[in-house]
Amino acid sequence: MITKIWSALFIVFAVYTAMVYEYSGSGQHLSPPPANVRQGWDIWQQKNCHTCHQLYGLGGYMGPDLTNMISDPGKGPEYMRIFIKYGTTRMPDFHLSDKEVNDVLAFLKWVDKSGKSRVDSKSVHWTGTYLLK
Ligand code: HEC
Repeated sequence: MITKIWSALFIVFAVYTAMVYEYSGSGQHLSPPPANVRQGWDIWQQKNCHTCHQLYGLGGYMGPDLTNMISDPGKGPEYMRIFIKYGTTRMPDFHLSDKEVNDVLAFLKWVDKSGKSRVDSKSVHWTGTYLLK
């Protein structure tokens, strides 16, 4: 009896593994980030933006999630630039130069292209695998 249960579990495991492998996309990867994106990423880390903001839903919750704000028709880069350049009463002014602000925006644009902060159900295969399109 126990052997049958283990065999059944093993078969389910093997089938599920094969399905996840099968549906996990065709090896699409993001290209390595260019220099300005890497510099923006460094600033993101040095200034600890993630302690107040989330990317892909992870991070601090004092400020909003920034994963897809660049492509948000109601917001976008020029709206974000003002906050990053000058801060607000609730967000610090980091005294970044225009180049540094552009680098941070380039990093956030690159993040935006990498995925969605909220995954819609149409993008998830019933096995639970995220479908790359
Ligand atoms: C101390 C916490 C804190 C840190 C650190 C911080 N922010 Fe913010 N940020 C906020 C808060 C709070 C808001 C909302 C501002 C408001 O409404 O006054 C905000 C707003 C923003 C906005 C505008 C989003 C919107 O619609 O309100 C952007 C873009 C942004 N921050 C980017 C950054 C970047 C880039 C960094 C790092 C260089 C950073 N923030 C660091 C707290 C922070």
